[in-house]
Formats: sequence, structure tokens, C-alpha cells
Amino acid sequence: MLSIDLTGRRALVAGVADDGGFGFAIAKALAEAGASVSVGTWPPALNIFTNLLERGKMDESRKMSNGELLQFERIYPLDAAYDTLADAPDDIRTNKRYKDTGDFSIEGLTNRIRQDFGEQPLDIVVHSLANGPEVKKPLLETSRNGYLTAVSVSAYSLVAMVSRLGPLVRRGGSFVSLTYMAGERVIPGYGGGMSSAKAALESDTRTLAYEAGRKYGLRVNTISAGPFASRAASAIGIIDRMVEYCAANSPLSDPLTAEEVGVTAAFLSSPLGSGITGTTIYVDKGYHTMGMAVTAIGGD
Ligand SMILES: NC(=O)c1ccc[n+]([C@@H]2O[C@H](COP(=O)([O-])OP(=O)(O)OC[C@H]3O[C@@H](n4cnc5c(N)ncnc54)[C@H](O)[C@@H]3O)[C@@H](O)[C@H]2O)c1
Repeated sequence: MLSIDLTGRRALVAGVADDGGFGFAIAKALAEAGASVSVGTWPPALNIFTNLLERGKMDESRKMSNGELLQFERIYPLDAAYDTLADAPDDIRTNKRYKDTGDFSIEGLTNRIRQDFGEQPLDIVVHSLANGPEVKKPLLETSRNGYLTAVSVSAYSLVAMVSRLGPLVRRGGSFVSLTYMAGERVIPGYGGGMSSAKAALESDTRTLAYEAGRKYGLRVNTISAGPFASRAASAIGIIDRMVEYCAANSPLSDPLTAEEVGVTAAFLSSPLGSGITGTTIYVDKGYHTMGMAVTAIGGD
């Protein structure tokens, strides 16, 4: 039987702070396939996340097909806006949610993984994070600062992660990120430079695939997911309408699940995906293929 087998592989999923988003579903799918999984969690959300875990509030969603609960090998603090601790401004470093976490930068994460597991302990890295402080503003009204923050946190962070974590990933390993169609087509309401960030992320996926492929023998792909009501997506303000619209106008009319994105990431990260790199894979019920709204002609 052909199956996704990640036994003996180690994964890091950056961007998990609850059980409601793609990062969690990807972590679970990787664990279902046999990988050991660590996560990177944004410091402002870290306490709430570990409390919910300890108090058993996520036990239902952590339940795996073998009846055991999904375990995280490590939970690392990570603010992907900063490459080094010195890059973080004072008010962040001294903030009560940050000050006791140790080095939460991408370099700090890299050092901790090296200390915990050795020089080349990883096989899979997943980038499942984004933030655009002005996402509700149209691009025309977005400030330079808002735009640059969106691109820095949501796109450059992938470049920095491949650059710093790449040497820790064993040959044949894989990086996967999450993008959205707003990087290539207009999605009204997805503002603040987030569309620009996704365009950069998709372009960088191709260039990083070439560079990390030649340098380390690694693969880099991105999943273009359809709209899904995660915590981050709820910040857009119109996510429920986006989900409804896609269901009404896609070739497949049932709503997208996080599990569908999770298993695609597990496949891409597995040896079964060894020939795939530099690619944007759509997991959106086929919405990207449509050129006209089904609802406009009263279809169902
Ligand atoms: N939900 C959707 O409709 C949708 C569609 C396509 C793509 N995506 C992408 O999927 C990815 C995951 O998002 P999600 O929708 O599953 O929501 P989510 O809320 O589960 O994940 C976003 C995560 O990013 C983290 N984060 C924010 N700023 C950070 C920072 N500076 N450093 C580290 N972590 C930070 C948040 O704490 C959160 O855990 C994102 O890249 C998002 O753009 C989402």
C-alpha cells in the first residue's frame, strides 16, 4: 500500500497558537504520518496556548486516529518579525509577554533547535504564519509602515527561515508555506499589503527552491489555500462571507477543511513529493479555476 510515511522524521511548524488554524492541522497530519513535531508560537499567544493544552481544552482536536493525543516535542517562542534578538525593539524585549521567553527571534529558534537536537536534526519546516496590522484597510489607504510590516512578517520571514534553518535540515527535506490567491488576483477586503506579501511569498518560493535546492538539496513549496475561518482570517472581518462565496462558486461546493490542507502539506513534505519544488499547490476546492461566478447565472 502506498502511504505517507514520516516515521523517524522531525518537523517544525511555525505559526501554531490554537487548534483552529492550518498550522495545527498540518502538525496533526505530520504526526499522523509518524513525524515528531515541534511548533513555533508567537509570544503574545504562548501563555494562552500552553494553558489550554495543559488544561485539556484541546484534547478533542488533539485526538489522533490511534486514540493517542497529539504531542508536541517542543513549543518554541517565535516572533518571525525578528531575525535576531537585537533586532527587536526595547519595548518588545521588555514586554511582559516576551521578557521571560528567552531568545524568540528566528536566530534564537535556530540555536535552540541545534542545542536540543544537534547540528542537522530537521526534515520538515512549515511556515504557517502571517500578520498585516492594516489588513482591513484598502491598499490605497495602507501606510508604508503597515505595508512593510505585512511583507516583513508574512513573506521575508520565510526567506529568513530558509536561510537560517536550511543548514539544519537534512538533504531531501522540505519547506512548505501557506499563501492565498490574493497574491495573484484581486480579493476585495484583503488589504494592508497582505496581497503584496502573498505575491512576494509565491515568488520567493520559486527563487528559494532554486537556491536551497542547489545549496542544501531541499525543496520549497507553497500551498494556496481557500478561505477558512481561522483566528487570523477572522481578523480580515469578512471571512464568513469569503467562505460562503467560495463554496457557492467553486467546482466542489462543500467548504474547505483544515485537514485537507494538513494532508497536502504532509504529502508535499514526504518522500512522495521528492519531485515537487518551487510550486504553488492549490487546495481550494478548485476555486482558482473559475472565471465567472456561478451565482451570477443562478447555477448551483
Ligand atoms: N485562513 C485562511 O483563509 C487562509 C487562506 C490562505 C492562506 N492562509 C495562510 O495560512 C497561514 C496560517 O494562517 P491561519 O489562517 O491558519 O491562521 P492561524 O491564526 O492559525 O495562524 C496564524 C499564526 O501566525 C501567528 N503569528 C502572527 N504573527 C506572528 C509573528 N510575528 N511571529 C510568529 N507567529 C506569528 C499567529 O500567532 C498564529 O498562530 C497564514 O500564512 C495565512 O495567511 C490562510
